[in-house]
Amino acid sequence: MSVAVDPTSTRRKARTFRLYRTIRGFMRDPMAELERISRAANGEIARLDFGASRPYLVTHPDHVQQVLRRESETFIREGTFWRPLAKLFGDSIMSEGAVWEHSKRVLQPVFSTRHLRTLTDAMAEAINTAIDKLEEPAREGRPIQVMPEMSRIVNETVIKILFGGKITPVEADRLIPAMEQVATSIAFRFLLPFVPDAIPLPGDRAYREGERIMDETLYELVERYRDDPGEGTDIFTALCNARTADGAEPTAKWLRDNLMAMFATSTETTSTALTWLWPLLHEHPDVAARLKKEIRSVVGRDRVTVAHLRELPYVTQVIQELLRLYPVGWAFSRIATKPTTLGGVEIKPGDIVIISPYLTHHLESVWDRPYDFDPERFRPDRARTYHRYAYYPFGGGPHQCIGRHVFNAEAQLILTGILSRFDFELTGEVPARPRIGATLRPKVEVEMRLTPIANGSGSGAE
Ligand code: HEM
Repeated sequence: MSVAVDPTSTRRKARTFRLYRTIRGFMRDPMAELERISRAANGEIARLDFGASRPYLVTHPDHVQQVLRRESETFIREGTFWRPLAKLFGDSIMSEGAVWEHSKRVLQPVFSTRHLRTLTDAMAEAINTAIDKLEEPAREGRPIQVMPEMSRIVNETVIKILFGGKITPVEADRLIPAMEQVATSIAFRFLLPFVPDAIPLPGDRAYREGERIMDETLYELVERYRDDPGEGTDIFTALCNARTADGAEPTAKWLRDNLMAMFATSTETTSTALTWLWPLLHEHPDVAARLKKEIRSVVGRDRVTVAHLRELPYVTQVIQELLRLYPVGWAFSRIATKPTTLGGVEIKPGDIVIISPYLTHHLESVWDRPYDFDPERFRPDRARTYHRYAYYPFGGGPHQCIGRHVFNAEAQLILTGILSRFDFELTGEVPARPRIGATLRPKVEVEMRLTPIANGSGSGAE
């Protein structure tokens, strides 16, 4: 891999991309315009002049590393671009400073290697049960809508690891669509964070309604369990048992904020990533055939378990490459608290920096044939040859995604669970371009038909 720019190079001014030159492109296809700017800057720091806001766009792996890791105390997770999410997540693990640290200290052990095994075993069970529901449309030859089905499987799984047995089916059925409503209706606020709340934007009403239903449901759960959570390996129980440094019990608001943060970060991201998988496999039948062979020879007619995953290296590579092409947490920002220099450009306190895994993952100076889907990039003997920040779908530094191992296990279990039982064919349009919002959903609905595999083809003979 070659990385074009020398980050230690002398002082320079960032190349500025002014609104009057970019506005048409942004109106037509915001992602295509960002990609054009990123290509033109080719790894150097670019300045986006939106008038109301003038953030720097940072894509070079060295610069990303400086912001997320080396100078994580200078570049903190606050500022205009976090406004819409800051309101939703409140004082949770998605905030910054002491408030973030407290939540992180409570949640970290839940995601430790030892506890993860308990979580992933529960996940495998939930995933198998959720996949059972695909049998009927598959037998009837009825196509399924991929995004809603992936969301259903992911939601049923996340609800298990988040709440264990503490949530009733009625509450889950209220929470899941409300979360979906929040995730989709926040898109305009996410893309135009500097627009004051007093100015209405499309989606505002749906967003408020979704948040209201979520709040109602989460506070009901908190009310019921906060004082006496009982036993449980789920995340809710761990949160209820948390104590502050002076031994105080968690407040209802802190519990609500962290439940909201965990639910939101773990559902939309995972379902969107898994939706992209099927068009990619459809367009790469060689990859799909190799996957089926590996999966069916390891899993056979069994139900997928966490133990199988160790024997499925190609599944791992496919999921890694999926997140290179479609890193669904496609951009996030930081605000500078002190003066510093980034790629030769002087940064002042208050300056905003936008980091985009999507843009870095698609830079030609960083990746060979960046738009091609090629799981061979992550062959075990090649994966470690890349710059640590050439590939960072889960961010890095102190705020690195706490759920990355959960995602990996969940995605591998879902892919394996489906391909061990079904063949698939896309029946509608094949999406190529993402639509940017809070995540990176496909621009068109994805539809596919599953066919139960014939008895005996579980031997991997294909
Ligand atoms: C495809 C799936 C996922 C992607 C692409 C993703 C991406 C990310 C990224 C980029 C960050 C860093 C944000 C920043 O630096 O400001 C992050 C943080 C976080 N993610 Fe994920 N995530 C995924 C799945 C999950 C799951 C499954 C969970 C929970 C089970 C989760 C929980 C979190 C939390 C709590 C943080 C904040 C960590 C902190 O600030 O200490 N994510 N995620």
